[in-house]
Amino acid sequence: MSESLVTVAYITAAALFILSLGGLSNQETARRGNLLGMIGMLIALAATAAGVKVSGIGYGVLAAAILPACLIGGTLAQRVKMTEMPQLVAILHSFVGAAAVLVGLALYVNADSHLEGVEARVHEIEIFVGVCIGSITFTGSVIAFGKLHGMLSGKPLLLPARHVLNLIVLAATIWLGVLFVGNPSLDVGLLVLLGALILTGLLGIHLVMAIGGADMPVVVSMLNSYSGWAAAASGFMLGNDLLIITGALVGSSGAILSYIMCQGMNRSLANVILGGFGTADGGGSAAAVATGDAASVSVEDTAKILSEAKRVIIVPGYGMAVAQAQHALARVTSILRERGVEVRFAIHPVAGRLPGHMNVLLAESKIPYDIVLEMDEINDDFPSTDLTLVIGANDIVNPSAEDDPGSPIAGMPVLQVWKGKQVVVLKRSMASGYAGVENPLFFRDNTSMLFGDARENVEAILAAL
Ligand code: TAP
Repeated sequence: MSESLVTVAYITAAALFILSLGGLSNQETARRGNLLGMIGMLIALAATAAGVKVSGIGYGVLAAAILPACLIGGTLAQRVKMTEMPQLVAILHSFVGAAAVLVGLALYVNADSHLEGVEARVHEIEIFVGVCIGSITFTGSVIAFGKLHGMLSGKPLLLPARHVLNLIVLAATIWLGVLFVGNPSLDVGLLVLLGALILTGLLGIHLVMAIGGADMPVVVSMLNSYSGWAAAASGFMLGNDLLIITGALVGSSGAILSYIMCQGMNRSLANVILGGFGTADGGGSAAAVATGDAASVSVEDTAKILSEAKRVIIVPGYGMAVAQAQHALARVTSILRERGVEVRFAIHPVAGRLPGHMNVLLAESKIPYDIVLEMDEINDDFPSTDLTLVIGANDIVNPSAEDDPGSPIAGMPVLQVWKGKQVVVLKRSMASGYAGVENPLFFRDNTSMLFGDARENVEAILAAL
């Protein structure tokens, strides 16, 4: 394939990636967006393989690497549960980081001798920066995977003077960078590069170890951003424009997503990065403790209230995903709608454990998009709602975010379900949610608890209806 044809293919792939991101911003067009991204990636792979830089035995090596990788990746993606998606994404980011490190090391030991002067220095900077970002991304993602998969504790590791430690490591890395650029000896240069690789790897471990379980999804999104910049750095090292564009798209979209998630939790990005919040084990907060008795309700009574209601809002949360209650819920929704009840879904921006978690589950069970509303679109409608069904949600409907300044989630925007006429909460116990904060909603006069697994209870409501 001629170089100009490869360039055309790369431009087409880049355009498809941009269209793909555009498509992913909306549920109706998300499927098409994914398809465009896949076609773009196929074109990119084919053009790279057919490009001038690969020939003869190279194809054999490429096939031996790509085919088993496709098989392993495809099988794992097929098998992964929706609730395990964040850790899958985390481990995939670690591959991008590792790739950037390997590309950097390989390029350094196979130095391109015809680069001289400023060009050679710029190339060395590219290698150094690429290896460092790749190393942080790799180790950080592996730790994030371990925490999300329960292999490591969700508690933040808070070493004394940890910010000073991070600064020392950062300063040492910059110093190594100064030594590295322009160093005439390959051996010394390689040693310096490996030193920086180890230091930044340790930094990645320490940065993510210091972050609590509740913040891990934001961290995954940030690592997504880092992996994009690592890929862009690889693009600069290899002189590959498509890799630069793709890396920049991933890097910036990951950063924007992290920002949106932080807004949904009323936290600053710096507050998340500096760590220490959101122990998975909860406790230790200055929040007021909710007191009183929680009223419980039976499946039959819930079905009766549902039949008598004219306007219903359903608030799904992480527990709905765990229980996989969305299919039974879709059938309950369609029965109620057939009977003339107005049913709508209220989606909190950080419901569940990953961005768009609830939207994906509801779309999977074919719940119409037009009755699925974002928090801002529906929050004012609770007072005129007869029944709000909270299914496996907790933190996102916690009134203490609004009226308890001492609460760890104070200021987080929440769905004001308590303003509705009646609320039924489906969950297994009085346990707290991911932020480890008690929820006074459960003790309100207009709230009843329907205890048990969300799926079993929704199926029982369906049968009763
Ligand atoms: P949570 O506050 O985590 O509450 C989920 C509730 O589901 C739990 O209290 C649990 O109570 C219940 N549950 C678990 N399994 C269940 C089952 N099989 N059947 C019925 N109920 C079950 O979830 P949420 O309200 O969706 O809030 C999300 C949390 O994650 C927030 O704190 C948010 O900040 C955090 N977070 C989310 C994201 C994204 S992007 N989504 C990012 C960062 C952080 P029981 O054990 O009593 O059943």
